[in-house]
Amino acid sequence: MCGIVGFVGKKQASSILVEGLSKLEYRGYDSAGVAIIDNDHINVVKCKGRLKNLENKLSEHPLKGILGIGHTRWATHGKPSDLNAHPHNSQDGTISVVHNGIIENYVQLREWLTSKGYKFVSETDTEVIPQLIEYFYKGDIVEAVMRAISKIKGSYAVGVICSKEPGKLVAVRKDSPLIVGLGKDEYYIASDIPAVLNHTRDIYLLNDNEFVVITKDGVKLLSEDKKEIKKDVYHVTWSANAAEKGGFDHFMMKEIHEQPKAIKDTMTSRIMPGKPITLDDIKITKEQIKNIDKIYIVACGTAYHAGIVGKYVIEKLVRMPVEVDIASEFRYRNPIIDERTLMIIISQSGETADTLAALREAKAHGARVIAVTNVAGSTVSREADDVLYTWAGPEIAVASTKAYTTQLITMYMIALFFAQNRNTLSQEEIEAIKNDMLTLPEKAKQMLEQKEVLQKFASRIYMHKEMFFLGRGIDYAVAMEGSLKVKEVSYIHSEAYAGGELKHGTIALIEDGTVVIALATQTSLYQKMISNIREVTTRGARVLGFTVEGNIDMEKAVDSVLYVPKVNDILLPVLTVIPLQLLAYYIAVQKGCDVDKPRNLAKSVTVE
Ligand code: M6R
Repeated sequence: MCGIVGFVGKKQASSILVEGLSKLEYRGYDSAGVAIIDNDHINVVKCKGRLKNLENKLSEHPLKGILGIGHTRWATHGKPSDLNAHPHNSQDGTISVVHNGIIENYVQLREWLTSKGYKFVSETDTEVIPQLIEYFYKGDIVEAVMRAISKIKGSYAVGVICSKEPGKLVAVRKDSPLIVGLGKDEYYIASDIPAVLNHTRDIYLLNDNEFVVITKDGVKLLSEDKKEIKKDVYHVTWSANAAEKGGFDHFMMKEIHEQPKAIKDTMTSRIMPGKPITLDDIKITKEQIKNIDKIYIVACGTAYHAGIVGKYVIEKLVRMPVEVDIASEFRYRNPIIDERTLMIIISQSGETADTLAALREAKAHGARVIAVTNVAGSTVSREADDVLYTWAGPEIAVASTKAYTTQLITMYMIALFFAQNRNTLSQEEIEAIKNDMLTLPEKAKQMLEQKEVLQKFASRIYMHKEMFFLGRGIDYAVAMEGSLKVKEVSYIHSEAYAGGELKHGTIALIEDGTVVIALATQTSLYQKMISNIREVTTRGARVLGFTVEGNIDMEKAVDSVLYVPKVNDILLPVLTVIPLQLLAYYIAVQKGCDVDKPRNLAKSVTVE
């Protein structure tokens, strides 16, 4: 996820672009840059780090000009660096591009362009775009952009300027957001509304495959077959603050809703029907995978819970022993590690001090480390042997939501990749799981539609002092995550228990009115879990049950049921957790808690 802006008008573009980018920093902040046309020449200033670095650089090298584009980056392809920062120029420097999204076929395009003599200077997927446009340019920038875009597969919002047509800005989108701001004698493009709100509240919301051509005289919208499109102007009535959250009241809710896309993005170009799983970012060889005799998964908090799901899945699909550890415990327990040990580190931020220390401990003892992280260029990503990025985009709310579901996706991909390399599953079995994975984004959307039931349930229980989450097997791992969400955002004391363990002590706490969330999604454990639910309902518990569609007898055992669409049992955590996140959110809102910044917590825990 990145942020793009563009400006055409009579004022100096530089400060307007930077101001727009400052409203988009929530979309990415590992590097930033602007390109502005001055006297038929494109000047670019860009650098690694926060927008402040760009501002400093611009104060040393001010850019003149009234037409330009800007970008704030969240690295996916290529580490955060000055060279990988956008805008990217074509080889002859006449075309400059900013891009948000992922070009799936960039490797092929890069090879093809290289064979035509084009040289690349960055590690990004984006750089193929200006090169392709230059290749197709025959005196008409709109035509060249259209031809280039027709060759690109993937998601994109793209802004293009060309020094040979210095009065034009061309943009297009597909599967990445893009709006056009309509000011008085000045026009804007942006990834999101807040970037233009200081200048105008009138905008066009572009649809997929729509092009926009902006000059000082106005805005022209075109379809991919060059027909002019008429569109209603959308007048923004929200406050700038609400707009930054995409109209949601809190970042947590926005990020919960971003999960279908984050799940899809994380699988992009890695899981494809009929093709082997390709984990582009990891270099571990088949031989090395075969030599591993033990895996540790080490992480903290929500990432640790994703690791527990990882253990179930890797042990099931790869038949290898996996231990999951809390990072702060792992480093002090003198774990048995050698060259045949693989460590998988999971960390959204890639900066958690305990996780980092565990990584260093494992490396010091000769283990190979794969990092699963959401932040390109983070310390964890730099110190691990291999990195597998979750492509969730920046997570702002302290409570982790989309990072968790994308970490689960990554656990499945690692398990399948290992199963593929160790021949523990047949191709048909791998294909069946992959096909089910590809249905998850749509099914995740269905889970988001169940908000009303959860909101009602939350309004009935938000005054409770405690609650329990029960599950067996992989559901127990999800119960832990659901319980953590409730604790951290609503401050209700909550415990997660394995269904079968309750009767060994904790059941003493169940009394009339105790709130229990019971997960019974796993086929082989369903009847056992129903018995555990009866153990608590007979003692007066009020139970919200979760099971898969079709298990209607659950309705007799609990107060309310929430159904999860059918999919391979091991993938269900991705869906089941969504209503649990929503439940925690609604309870917190009812209680008036500070949802995005819960008390005593920080987003990134960089101290031991
Ligand atoms: O950035 P990390 O994934 O390493 O962070 C680990 C935990 O601090 C984090 O998951 C924390 O538990 C979240 N606030 C949970 O929502």
